[in-house]
Amino acid sequence: MKQRKTYGSCILCHDAPCSRACTKCDPARILRALRFDNVEEAARLLPEDYDPSWVKEAQEVCPAGVEIARALDELNEQRVYLEGTEGADQVDLSCDICGVKLENPFLLSSSVVASNYEMCARAFEMGWAGVAFKTVCLMDIHEASPRFSTVRSAEGDWYGFKNIEQLSDHSLEENLECFRELKKNYPTKVIVASIMGRNEEEWEYLARKVTEAGADVIECNFSCPNMEEHGTGSDVGQDPETVRRYTEATRRGTRIPILAKMTPNITDITVPAEAARLGGADGIAAINTIKSITGVNIDTLVGYPSVHGKTMVGGYSGRAVKPIALRFISDLAGAKSLKGLHISGMGGIVTWRDAVEFILMGSGSLQITTSVMEYGYRIIDDLLSGLKIYMAQRNYHSVSELIGCGLDSVVDNDMLERDTVVFPVFNKDKCVGCGRCFLSCRDGGHQAIVFDEETRTVRLNGRKCVGCQLCSLVCPAGAITQSRRISRKKKEA
Ligand SMILES: Cc1cc2nc3c(=O)[nH]c(=O)nc-3n(C[C@H](O)[C@H](O)[C@H](O)COP(=O)(O)O)c2cc1C
Repeated sequence: MKQRKTYGSCILCHDAPCSRACTKCDPARILRALRFDNVEEAARLLPEDYDPSWVKEAQEVCPAGVEIARALDELNEQRVYLEGTEGADQVDLSCDICGVKLENPFLLSSSVVASNYEMCARAFEMGWAGVAFKTVCLMDIHEASPRFSTVRSAEGDWYGFKNIEQLSDHSLEENLECFRELKKNYPTKVIVASIMGRNEEEWEYLARKVTEAGADVIECNFSCPNMEEHGTGSDVGQDPETVRRYTEATRRGTRIPILAKMTPNITDITVPAEAARLGGADGIAAINTIKSITGVNIDTLVGYPSVHGKTMVGGYSGRAVKPIALRFISDLAGAKSLKGLHISGMGGIVTWRDAVEFILMGSGSLQITTSVMEYGYRIIDDLLSGLKIYMAQRNYHSVSELIGCGLDSVVDNDMLERDTVVFPVFNKDKCVGCGRCFLSCRDGGHQAIVFDEETRTVRLNGRKCVGCQLCSLVCPAGAITQSRRISRKKKEA
């Protein structure tokens, strides 16, 4: 089967040659919207009078050989079905972190992506509502090289990302000067100052200093898993009593809102979160990175990244951690003892759809690092427009209406209804006869699918099928859907 080079093959060039070559529309921006799950925005960006001849030259200069005309033609045909985007531009995304106004829910999370004045200023100009600045401290930070490794999807996108980086290696004074300048030049943008001390005096001192320099919110880094200095970072986040003491010390140094940034390297995140609340935190930020070994080079026998033939357990982030982050966010948002605390959610957010999911699980603001490292600050375009279109289509008027709306769907194991079944429904027109559903059901399911090798068609044995829907998950053609729900008793009869 010849691989078609549609928008999925777009390599997302900076200053894309295709857009330079096209004077009538911006193909690179449209393809990017498609890549970031924002088909409605892509359709809005395609001019009404689009003509395939416009992108002939653009296609010729594409370094990845993407069939730009075909992608835009398909989008043009689809356009009639994409309704309800009117009003998206008027949607107000403003919200807040513990009363501090945000023009939209999106902040850069504390990391290299927000580590100097120039970077933060550029992110603000591009539409980010705020930054959680790279953690400032009084320690001497020495970083290793190289310091990252990736796990990739078949298409080459990063699936998971490991870093062994610590905190800001700029002096405290340099960082405070950034805060002052950013606050002066971008007074409506929000600066979250991430801090980390080694003892109560340092926490209090840092809290006072960043407050004086203009920070709007403080984020206590109780969660970096990569610290050289023992008894700091995630060591603190795993010890509720120390979390409480250090939050109290931070509170002594400031009156602005405090977020406690939590480690996921713990069984019950609500325990240290509750300790932070007792210490005076106004909200929780979660999650920091997950301790990981992303892989081992099987020739050199050294784990990644190799620093002079050695590696260390380091923090995992990006798409792969989203399910784990959502679980921790829902634990925090569902905990009665934490009611009323703001949750700043992060961990694997790439698209506006991820953002909505984090909000539905209880996040009031959102932070991002890894997908910015992979694709740049420009992902904010599709985060903002995608979220606005979603809200306009469903008639939501503010982000706050959505916060936590998915939480009721998460119930205890003994509360799930287990008396009905949904069967797979095979769409013969879409089926390509690959037999993947048969294979998975035979070897990983309940041997309920019969495959006719002659006709390459499948049939369901309803008596054996338990309705697990493995077949629909594995079908590469989208040819298997769910039946209506039927009672288990009726099935057995
Ligand atoms: C390279 C790198 C450096 C980071 N540095 C910090 C840091 O200094 N302070 C902090 O609180 N979190 C730090 N983090 C964690 C992120 O802020 C964030 O919690 C985590 O990466 C999950 O979000 P993501 O999947 O969007 O990256 C860092 C993450 C990465 C990838």
